[in-house]
Amino acid sequence: MRWIEVDNYEQMSEQAAAVVINLVKEKPEAVIGLATGGTPAGTYKRLIDDYKQNTTSYENIKTVNLDEYVGLEKESDQSYTYYMDKHLFDHINLKRENIHLPKAETPPYEQDAKDYEQLIEDLGGVDLQVLGIGENGHIGFNEPGTPFSSKTGVVELDPSTREANARYFENKDDVPTHAISMGISTIMKSRKIILLASGAKKAPILYNLFKTDVTEDIPASILKEHPDVTIIADSEALALL
Ligand code: GLP
Repeated sequence: MRWIEVDNYEQMSEQAAAVVINLVKEKPEAVIGLATGGTPAGTYKRLIDDYKQNTTSYENIKTVNLDEYVGLEKESDQSYTYYMDKHLFDHINLKRENIHLPKAETPPYEQDAKDYEQLIEDLGGVDLQVLGIGENGHIGFNEPGTPFSSKTGVVELDPSTREANARYFENKDDVPTHAISMGISTIMKSRKIILLASGAKKAPILYNLFKTDVTEDIPASILKEHPDVTIIADSEALALL
């Protein structure tokens, strides 16, 4: 696991965007795994700026997102489908048929999760996975205690995760209780992974991640066993190290 320290959110976003852009240029038909949340929004903004300035083409790029809330309509402002459209997909020349997020609007959720795992395999696996990290160490929506062998499935959100994500919803109780998330083993199959972290809220978990052995209590700790993981974190997030 490689650690890169940058000064701030802007620099983190710039470095992450550069990794994505390099891959898109090297492998124009790459499969890129994407994340949501506050952390990657700045990276996506830079991808859009670069697309406009340098006409980097996403024509043959395929994307697979990590997760989606169960039971939210796609059009809902809080769905990850909406987030991705707004923050990236509406602004670059990705083809709609090459964009994939878990289908999680209506049942059968378990079957949809299985189909999503298969879809990722059929696409040939993920070349580059962009990850954020939850304050409790979750990756995707794989909460502490999730078996490392987990595949894409329906997962229950930890109360602390619902709390952390409540800022995006009108009411705390509106935060869905479940999501479909790529599994930990699915994430680990990605050929390259970058994990982004910014801000003081992430400092305790980055400290724990750095110090810990690999343990299911901290889902992100499994990344220590992956051959190509880079953590790009800013000084505030690394303040306790
Ligand atoms: C969410 C997402 C994760 C994300 C994490 C951190 O629950 N499922 O993919 O990495 O929480 O979010 P943020 O970047 O807003 O801190």
